[in-house]
Amino acid sequence: MGRGRFVVLEGIEGAGKSTHSAFLAGWLREKGIAVVAAREPGGTALGERLREILLDPEVTGMPPLAELLLMFAARSASLNEVIRPALEAGSWVICDRFVDSSYAYQSRGRGIPPEYVQALEQQVLDGLRPDLTILLDAPVSVGLSRKDNPQGGDRFERESREFFERVRAGYLDRAAVGGDSYCVVDASRSLEAVQTDLKDAVGELAGL
Ligand code: TMP
Repeated sequence: MGRGRFVVLEGIEGAGKSTHSAFLAGWLREKGIAVVAAREPGGTALGERLREILLDPEVTGMPPLAELLLMFAARSASLNEVIRPALEAGSWVICDRFVDSSYAYQSRGRGIPPEYVQALEQQVLDGLRPDLTILLDAPVSVGLSRKDNPQGGDRFERESREFFERVRAGYLDRAAVGGDSYCVVDASRSLEAVQTDLKDAVGELAGL
């Protein structure tokens, strides 16, 4: 078995990350490639408990720095329990969100200096980097309309349109300086059109 690759899907709410992560994992498995699916925050006992807190709209007044630290606490567990073991065993990892979410949401969205995120990234990731980050990019109006939730949604979904505009811009700026390890896909198109682009990008990495 070849070396496992680490692929991350990023994007604002409603960009289709979960659907497309599942699609990519299924497509790679059809090609005989072992795939482990991960998501953040979550995917471990600790991560899922932290996810409940982080998304709960009844948890009010969470300081942005506390939010950042909890995201990295969940990430640390995911790296130890899911991501590193899978890559070491030669599996691919398809991860629904990773560090770029912290740059986009906690730094650009909430205003935390990017150096704080970078410091945690260095400590917690210890040199591990995704082989490919796919940014599913869509206008905020498109993403939010797909998530339209009469109950008001989770703690993030209740944020303002301006918040998500900053998050989207944060993602696009990361991708612009990220070189070959980033691929920006226009996620406002049909599922089929997006999936064709995903197969091209991931197929190239897999040598398919
Ligand atoms: P989702 O995985 O269902 O999209 O929800 C996770 C939420 O958590 C989403 O609103 C983005 C947010 N988030 C951050 O703010 N920072 C992070 O580092 C991660 C992983 C997620």
